[in-house]
Amino acid sequence: MKILLAGGAGYIGSHTAVELLNAGLEVVIVDNYCNSSPVAIERIEEITGKKVEAFEADIKDKEKVFEIMKQTKPDCVIHFAGLKAVGESVQLPLKYYRNNIDTTITLLECMEELGIKNFVFSSSATVYGEENDIPYVETMRRLSCSNPYGWTKYMMEQILEDAAKADSELSVVLLRYFNPIGAHESGRIGEDPQGIPNNLMPYIAQVAVGRRDHLTIFGNDYETKDGTCRRDYIHVMDLANGHLKAVLYADQHKGVEVFNLGTGNPFSVLEIVHAFENANGIEIKYEFGEKRAGDLPEFWANADKAKEVLGWEANRTIEEMCRDTWNWQKNNPNGYNN
Ligand code: NAD
Ligand code: WQD
Repeated sequence: MKILLAGGAGYIGSHTAVELLNAGLEVVIVDNYCNSSPVAIERIEEITGKKVEAFEADIKDKEKVFEIMKQTKPDCVIHFAGLKAVGESVQLPLKYYRNNIDTTITLLECMEELGIKNFVFSSSATVYGEENDIPYVETMRRLSCSNPYGWTKYMMEQILEDAAKADSELSVVLLRYFNPIGAHESGRIGEDPQGIPNNLMPYIAQVAVGRRDHLTIFGNDYETKDGTCRRDYIHVMDLANGHLKAVLYADQHKGVEVFNLGTGNPFSVLEIVHAFENANGIEIKYEFGEKRAGDLPEFWANADKAKEVLGWEANRTIEEMCRDTWNWQKNNPNGYNN
């Protein structure tokens, strides 16, 4: 089986490529490297000892994407090619709507014209919005998102549902990720954010390696057990394995299916800082700052459905997530720009 990974050079895509190749599937990567590096492709090949068919292209460019799909004939498309910086999406909403929605429609149109029927989508826990109770269950409605990035995911889920309603042969799997962290255990691929990291774990890793002086913890008077926010952190290789299961599922089913990919166990910001310190024997300097706009106090997944239907479960520990993050960061202090 051959899988086309749109945005496959990025953080989650590169780890998924390794998982798919190791399972004996063929991988095609299409990326414009707007938030990644072609070095990731070399590293994927190095880790797996297998060849990746790679194309540099913008997924919004329908002519190019059509030609690539026609030439490579994938059985399934996984769509990772989104812009994902929440703060930037508030400043530049049109850039986010254009990129995220246009890429989705372009992929669907090319697939329709070429008779490719299986689609796996990188969605997010953010679509549960601000009003649902926790833990989040797939049967809950999508509710109002706090930023344009979140709304693009909300809208893309709707577009995919409508496309599947109109084409009974289409199989769509919506994967709602919680908070992916960690790296492949080899330390050869990992998360390489451009500029100041928006997310917690890359920020901690950059403090550890000396690129940042200290972490600012956004708020310490939330109504949680230690006053800091709680999230459902999941090892990126567990997440990658969820994609393998989703691709196999999509091949055997029709219509739309939604899965949470999380562990079901939340950790607070302080717990993460201390877990990183304990796992790696490094002190992380931090101070408390203002709350960040739009942050919810806590949320985590009900991960039962993925276990029951896909036979998937996250099994790596928070220690492994912290150890593998540091293994990547210490061996690649400047990410792929070494
Ligand atoms: P990433 O930025 O590392 O990867 C996205 C990849 O897509 C990058 O390689 C980028 O260059 C590419 N890309 C973006 N727009 C493109 C375009 N128009 N044409 C070609 N390539 C394009 O991000 P990631 O963390 O790997 O996330 C992958 C997907 O998962 C995204 O859709 C993101 O919204 C979603 N997601 C991520 C998280 C997270 O915390 N990392 C959580 C939930 C959902
Ligand atoms: C985690 C916790 C922060 C940085 C985001 C998106 C979400 C999804 C995953 C894509 C929060 C705190 C962070 C820092 C801190 N992405 N923090 N200091 O906000 O849960 O989710 O990424 O879909 O849509 O919103 O993840 O890693 O940014 O933050 O104290 O410098 O760490 O307040 O409580 P978040 P995060």
